[in-house]
Amino acid sequence: MAMACSSSTIHEQLGIRTNKICCIGAGYVGGPTMATIAKKCPGIEVTIVDLNQKRIDEWNSDTLPIYEPGLTEIVKEVRGKNLFFSSNVQKGIEDADIIFAAVNTPTKTKGVGAGRAADLRFIESVGRTIAKYATRSKIIIEKSTVPVRTAAALGKVLAANGNSSADQLAKRFWILSNPEFLAEGTAMKDLDNPDRVLIGGPQTREGLDAIQVLVNIYAQWVPAEQILTTNLWSSELSKLVANAFLAQRVSSINSVARLCERTGADVREVARAIGTDARIGPKFLTASVGFGGSCFQKDILNLVYICEQFGLHEVAAYWQQVVSMNEHQKQSFTTNIMHTMFNTVTAKKIAIFGFAFKKDTGDVRETPAITICDMLMQDGAILQVYDPQVTRESAADEMKHHGMEVPEEQFKFCASAAEAVEDAHAIVILTEWGEFKTCNYGEFYQRMMKPSFIFDGRNLLERSKIESIGFEVHQVGVSRVVEESPTNKGHKETDRAASFSLTEASTDVSDAASDSTDTASV
Ligand SMILES: NC(=O)c1ccc[n+]([C@@H]2O[C@H](COP(=O)([O-])OP(=O)(O)OC[C@H]3O[C@@H](n4cnc5c(N)ncnc54)[C@H](O)[C@@H]3O)[C@@H](O)[C@H]2O)c1
Repeated sequence: MAMACSSSTIHEQLGIRTNKICCIGAGYVGGPTMATIAKKCPGIEVTIVDLNQKRIDEWNSDTLPIYEPGLTEIVKEVRGKNLFFSSNVQKGIEDADIIFAAVNTPTKTKGVGAGRAADLRFIESVGRTIAKYATRSKIIIEKSTVPVRTAAALGKVLAANGNSSADQLAKRFWILSNPEFLAEGTAMKDLDNPDRVLIGGPQTREGLDAIQVLVNIYAQWVPAEQILTTNLWSSELSKLVANAFLAQRVSSINSVARLCERTGADVREVARAIGTDARIGPKFLTASVGFGGSCFQKDILNLVYICEQFGLHEVAAYWQQVVSMNEHQKQSFTTNIMHTMFNTVTAKKIAIFGFAFKKDTGDVRETPAITICDMLMQDGAILQVYDPQVTRESAADEMKHHGMEVPEEQFKFCASAAEAVEDAHAIVILTEWGEFKTCNYGEFYQRMMKPSFIFDGRNLLERSKIESIGFEVHQVGVSRVVEESPTNKGHKETDRAASFSLTEASTDVSDAASDSTDTASV
């Protein structure tokens, strides 16, 4: 259904049409953000284009390519009215003068900066494609997370790839930065009610006009004081810095969790104590197996790379430590599993509860589960994995993407948590799905080998309740010291707070064992 283009939809100064938007990239960001714009702005026609035909077909079907609470409902409401999905990139560019680029910007895997720098080939290809097909002036909006000063590079690509010189004179491109701050799992809520919208652009008269065009779109549902405008570079850099600060909180609380495990402090109590300080705040203070997802690691590594390019080696090392701490957390969690299970998991069945990097998403990119599962399988474990939103195929693909082997007989997927625990020696909780809180652990205990262990990597369970069933429960940042008790000839758990001494800490065999591995892994 084509929308009429009246004179009121032509911008007086810039001469562009303001009633149509094209978004290049139909992924985790493009899909939810554009569905929200279409819903909030019924007068704007939004088309999302992608080269991946399968993805487009899925967006046009009843089963969307990504899982996000509330997304299906909104897509069904606006799809075919003012939201369209297409693989015709050329037509999308020709038809709209406001173009979002929401393509992927992964970490480079080879060449200069491999393992740290952002791979900007998809952004670059967007620039070339727009230059090729644009017949009129356009506002081009970086929605992807990009290194600071990418707009300058994009501008060069656009300028160098226009058709004829006469054509180039007739059309202008204004590049804006509008990074996305949604979090997977809560994307629709975040988009509906964002903390802020950030728009950066050239501080020229036309640049400021272009910024205002985008401000007007968001202003249809976001309060004016929450729409921040800046210069281009501040906006581009702010997105990397926001992710670096968030990931830093995770690594900070996880580092404290390690100390809690040795001292008898409980990381949940420490988090509550520090989080009530208004200057610190309570969010992102949950100790866990570590952060994952497609953004945190890649964006910090990118920040590290940029700092090094500017010769800021100490600054680079400072942020690199956030990623190193995260690696350490995943590895020490797994080392503790092996150590606790009598130093080997060979041929032992282990139930893995959750594979996605967080709850309410099926996204497995950079999930801590891949490192943990890989380490367990390398030691010979047979994994019985259950995640309500993850298929074996996508989990195995992510592991292979990281060069890990995925033996058929060691990596089994189950249809339920109950199936996963059959004959297992341990349950390892890796994703905080709500259903793992309410499982029938009494019944699970009956189906498992003894002793039965639970390694709660998300501190999801009420420990005393689960222990009363008979499980030995290990949580992150909660100390657990096993001591021989002469009175009951069994193993008695004592709180480290009651028995801690510095001499003991340095001679504790279990601590020393995990220390050596931890140090090696940093
Ligand atoms: N996933 C998140 O939670 C999140 C949050 C904020 C920001 N971001 C950033 O947003 C960007 C997109 O992330 P994503 O998770 O949506 O990625 P994604 O991989 O899910 O989607 C990107 C899509 O772009 C398409 N694409 C690539 N090049 C193209 C081209 N030249 N023409 C047409 N289509 C093309 C791909 O086929 C893919 O479907 C990244 O820069 C990411 O860092 C992601």
